[in-house]
Amino acid sequence: MTPPLQETTQGWGPYAIALQQDEALSVALKDGLLRVEEVLLNYTRSDHAYISEITSHLAQAGGKRTRPLLVLLAAQFGDPARAGIVEAAVVVELTHLATLYHDDVMDEAALRRGVASANQRWDNSLAILSGDFLFARASTLLSELGPDAVRIQAETFERLVSGQISESVGPKNGQNPVEHHLEVLAGKTGSLIATSGRFGAIFAGCTSDQERILAEFGELFGVAFQLSDDLLDIASESEQSGKTPGTDLREGVHTLPMLIALAMDGSADPDTERLQELLRTDLAADDEAFAEALELLRAHPSMEQARDVVRGYAQKAKAVLDPLAEIPAKEALRALCDVVISRTT
Ligand code: IPE
Ligand code: IPE
Ligand code: MG
Ligand code: MG
Repeated sequence: MTPPLQETTQGWGPYAIALQQDEALSVALKDGLLRVEEVLLNYTRSDHAYISEITSHLAQAGGKRTRPLLVLLAAQFGDPARAGIVEAAVVVELTHLATLYHDDVMDEAALRRGVASANQRWDNSLAILSGDFLFARASTLLSELGPDAVRIQAETFERLVSGQISESVGPKNGQNPVEHHLEVLAGKTGSLIATSGRFGAIFAGCTSDQERILAEFGELFGVAFQLSDDLLDIASESEQSGKTPGTDLREGVHTLPMLIALAMDGSADPDTERLQELLRTDLAADDEAFAEALELLRAHPSMEQARDVVRGYAQKAKAVLDPLAEIPAKEALRALCDVVISRTT
């Protein structure tokens, strides 16, 4: 039996406003997402109940299903009834899920999608192995979609992992930290969201121009999405994000507002100077210093500057859609950009 789609903050609810403007599109998307959900949950399960418990844990906890939604929306520009669209949507969500299992180990995160992360509930080894299990499952399904899809996914995954590696390694000597950061986001998040748009176009039989545009949209939307998520990490409480607030700050992952604050002239303002000092210490080791840094950052002008960057990427994403036909899916993609902007501004 297919579980109902969750229209809560942990489900696709944040996007509802963007998807309800056209009745026929809304019905098609709900139907598509329900089919995705059924195949997705099957693919997270093993024949062994003790394995399924761990590997289905995060899929069952919810999630916004942003990437499958983009596959379905992109497919609207071709023939959305074609074979392979739902499977491609499941592949991108399975890949995303696997990266979340691994990411929570790397970030030592305890909360994901409003529930205990796998590393917290079980341990790091089981979380890593579950991520591997989900990659294997994505590959099985991908093999049914043909060699081109396998190659695109492999290249996407290489970019995603390279983004995660360069985030951990940090900027090269002399490289501008903000530039480096934006490159990291394009790799770790933009790549898979771009491929979501591309897969939707490919499997719906779109032209190569439509495919290129929808991939470019995904890439820019993906960066805006990650930037806004990083702002939420600072500004929101767990009820909204389903994650522990301030995880990036605590773990020493410098997201855009922190990089902007670090680049400012500290001597001009005591709060900036103190924030810079705190950002250079190990905040994971000192709860009091962490709380002080979070408070200073929440009120810091660098937050507003980072919001401007989110707006810039979201507006650019909208603009690349211009050459596409004016169908309801185009309006929905634009509206998704507005949701990303309004989540954090
Ligand atoms: C979390 O992704 C990691 C980022 C790229 C920001 P999502 O925000 O898509 O997470 P879920 O799937 O809704 O849980
Ligand atoms: C999530 O990255 C993993 C990928 C994008 C591959 P983050 O560490 O930035 O996201 P959250 O905040 O844990 O969801
Ligand atoms: Mg993380
Ligand atoms: Mg991370």
